[in-house]
Amino acid sequence: MEQQLYRLAKEYSGQSISDYFVQQPERFNQLSLSTCDLMLDYSKQNIDSVVLGHLVAWAKEQGLTAKINAMFNGDKINNTENRAVLHTVLRAPYAIKQQVLGDKLASEVHSTHQRMAQIINSIQSGVAKGYSGKAFTDVVAVGIGGSYYGPKVCHEALKSYRQPGLKIHYLANVDGTAVVGKLEKINLETTLVVIISKTFVTQETILNANVLKQCLLEQGCGVDDLPKHFVAVTAAPEKAQAFGVDSKNILPMWDWVGGRFSLWSAVGFPLACAIGVENFEQLCAGAYEMDQHFQTSPFENNMPVLLALIGIWNCSFLGHNSLAVLPYDHLLRDFPGYLQQVDMESSGKRVDINGDDITMAIAPIVFGQEGTNGQHAFMQLMHQRHVIPTEFIVSLKGQSPFTEHHRVLVANCFAQSEALMQGKDLKQAYDECIASGINEQTARQLAPHKVMPGNSPSSTLVIEQLTPKTMGSLMALYEHKIFVQGAMWNLNSFDQWGVELGKQLGETIINAFDGKSTQSLSGSSKALVDMFLKAN
Ligand code: F6P
Repeated sequence: MEQQLYRLAKEYSGQSISDYFVQQPERFNQLSLSTCDLMLDYSKQNIDSVVLGHLVAWAKEQGLTAKINAMFNGDKINNTENRAVLHTVLRAPYAIKQQVLGDKLASEVHSTHQRMAQIINSIQSGVAKGYSGKAFTDVVAVGIGGSYYGPKVCHEALKSYRQPGLKIHYLANVDGTAVVGKLEKINLETTLVVIISKTFVTQETILNANVLKQCLLEQGCGVDDLPKHFVAVTAAPEKAQAFGVDSKNILPMWDWVGGRFSLWSAVGFPLACAIGVENFEQLCAGAYEMDQHFQTSPFENNMPVLLALIGIWNCSFLGHNSLAVLPYDHLLRDFPGYLQQVDMESSGKRVDINGDDITMAIAPIVFGQEGTNGQHAFMQLMHQRHVIPTEFIVSLKGQSPFTEHHRVLVANCFAQSEALMQGKDLKQAYDECIASGINEQTARQLAPHKVMPGNSPSSTLVIEQLTPKTMGSLMALYEHKIFVQGAMWNLNSFDQWGVELGKQLGETIINAFDGKSTQSLSGSSKALVDMFLKAN
């Protein structure tokens, strides 16, 4: 089937997407799909029923159904770490938790959720207090990567659902300037620090947590009162305790929940603080609805599967090695950053699950920015130089009182997908110049610069209204899309060995800063270390 898809791709690469619409008046109805208050329009893709039929047949041939079931049933599909992948069970009803995890673990997951709610309640109600006896006004979530992006993207997206009272802040990067920025906004005396780290050894997180601990001490918090200011979410409770977190304020993570899929666990603590536990439950409910759709719908009508197969068609067969994700919604401006981590850390692999080289083109470079800002930046290149498949995301209903802004924003979104597809040929460009009063010679000179090849494929994902529930469905849609792509490419989407060497060499460089051997380093890095040492 793979070979047939390569052959089809050769045939289709010259195909005009605009022409499909001339030939198929019903194309939008045929190539769009609604579920969970989301509508996916993939009619502007270079695809038709023949290609889709082959992609679906290939998915069946690859045993996609069995792979989906293996994930949901808790098989150890993360084979390099010998772990199951069960973020889905966190948002499923209790009966499913019991069925998949067994009684003991199901009850642990359930009681973790309850403890999270209790701690949040005690902070919000003012029962929990800081070292000086004052109630908490701020929460700083310290974590990075998967222990940061999920809550942060939802925190921004669900701004209008934030509860009054507590202010929530995020501290991810290891940059003193970022710490100073946070400290300017908060009073540590009334701040709860939530350390989110599955391993509790992540350099950035531990450094930031230690700095906040030190600042608390310097500000007058006694050593005995320190635990009042810390909650930890981790799979290494003994390390959190050694740091000084009270064991009753340590919420577990489990090895069967990958960091970048962990929003649904207590990693969602800062988000639940911000939007309230009920809205957090709605987020989970939206994700569960998408899980059910994913598990039960035939591939032809399965949104995550279709999104994934179209992505594979563009990348592996048509040879487009990037993917732009463009939310036309200010509230989703963090979504491309979140997606970069989930997608590229999951799919950016060199070998398959057996350790054999992957020769197929896989794992597009994912980038994006909220519209319309991207139109005034990288979209020039997309219109005239490179074909970059695009996923537009837009909310039908705006959330500001400025309705004209929303009309203009959405119009720009729809216009961009049309422009990417239609393009403009030389004759159109020339005629346009003449029509605007430019003389013939100048028109001939100018017209080539105005040509846009067009035929760039895109999908548009329309969100009925951005709510906790639809946000949950959106997040789960992309989680499953990424899983399906990994399953089809036969790679392990749930490990991230590629980030390790940088961490190891980071230690080597810090040792070099401390005057230890630089022998293993290149001349470039040695010189850079020297420069840093001279300046500091
Ligand atoms: O970037 C590598 C990574 O291991 C991510 O997968 C993970 O989400 C992040 O670092 C943070 O890890 P931890 O939760 O253990 O601090």
